Amino acid sequence: MGAEAAKAAKPRLTPSEFQVLAQYLYEVSGIHLDPGKAYLVETRLGHMLEELGCASYSEFLYRLKQDRSKSLVHRFVDAMTTNETLFFRDTGPFDLLRYKLLPDLIDRKTSGAVGGLRPTIRIWSAACSFGQEVYSVAIVCHEVLQHAPGVSVKILGTDISSAAVGRASAGKYSAFEVERGLPPGIRDRYFQKVGHSTWKISDEIRALCQFKKLNLLEPFGFLGRFDIILCRNVAIYFKPEDRKDLYERMADSLEPWGALLIGASEFLTGVTQRFTARRHLRHVYYVRTDS
Ligand SMILES: C[S@@+](CC[C@H](N)C(=O)[O-])C[C@H]1O[C@@H](n2cnc3c(N)ncnc32)[C@H](O)[C@@H]1O
Repeated sequence: MGAEAAKAAKPRLTPSEFQVLAQYLYEVSGIHLDPGKAYLVETRLGHMLEELGCASYSEFLYRLKQDRSKSLVHRFVDAMTTNETLFFRDTGPFDLLRYKLLPDLIDRKTSGAVGGLRPTIRIWSAACSFGQEVYSVAIVCHEVLQHAPGVSVKILGTDISSAAVGRASAGKYSAFEVERGLPPGIRDRYFQKVGHSTWKISDEIRALCQFKKLNLLEPFGFLGRFDIILCRNVAIYFKPEDRKDLYERMADSLEPWGALLIGASEFLTGVTQRFTARRHLRHVYYVRTDS
């Protein structure tokens, strides 16, 4: 069937095609699709099939597996990931950072500081989507560290989606995106308006952040140790065994005093014993059980 005919009749995903596609998505991203999610695949991939002139999902799968450059695989993963995010999402983690985790870290890093060496706080946003989480963390760090000039911070944002990492790194947001979660005072202080309705993160905040493409199911020990890891609203898409493995590898990537922050609807109880829950200001964070 040619491109015109494919456009006319939208391909439907058969149950066996769904199985193969879901297995392929799992292999390349760890994202687990429940059997009832065929509609999600059709909604998210429909346009791509149309654009590629694929008459069926089997043809699309064939093209995916033949794609030596991996550019189609990246587009497939980008389309299948849920990038929903916003600035200061859930607020609690950012209060924790401002009033508990950063002050404690500053005390720890400055009390044993060796003359001449400027201690650095390392923070990782492990599935940063379009970067709102990273810049929210960076704004809080910038404000808190103004009172601790001897300490610096580096924030790493990673995501499996190349498109998301590209957007995060550019630090540009629509008026709608900055209105979601950003109080106007913060927006005006840390963003510049560029063009008609785009806001760009300020250079002083951008300079604290780095971005990298990274699949959390692959090894990440090479990133080194972090004082704080945010792993929010991503492990929900993984199978229970992959979720457990991910959190346990994150325990290894945390400093012994480090803290893990997870999403508001996520939990570690019964998932792994490598973390112990701590509570501050009604918000929960996790420390390594051996700390
Ligand atoms: C819902 S967003 C969460 C963004 C942010 N952490 C928050 O809570 O607002 C989930 C992100 O996880 C990313 N993701 C999904 N599977 C991943 C994987 N295997 N490795 C790394 N990132 C992944 C997606 O691309 C998406 O940007």
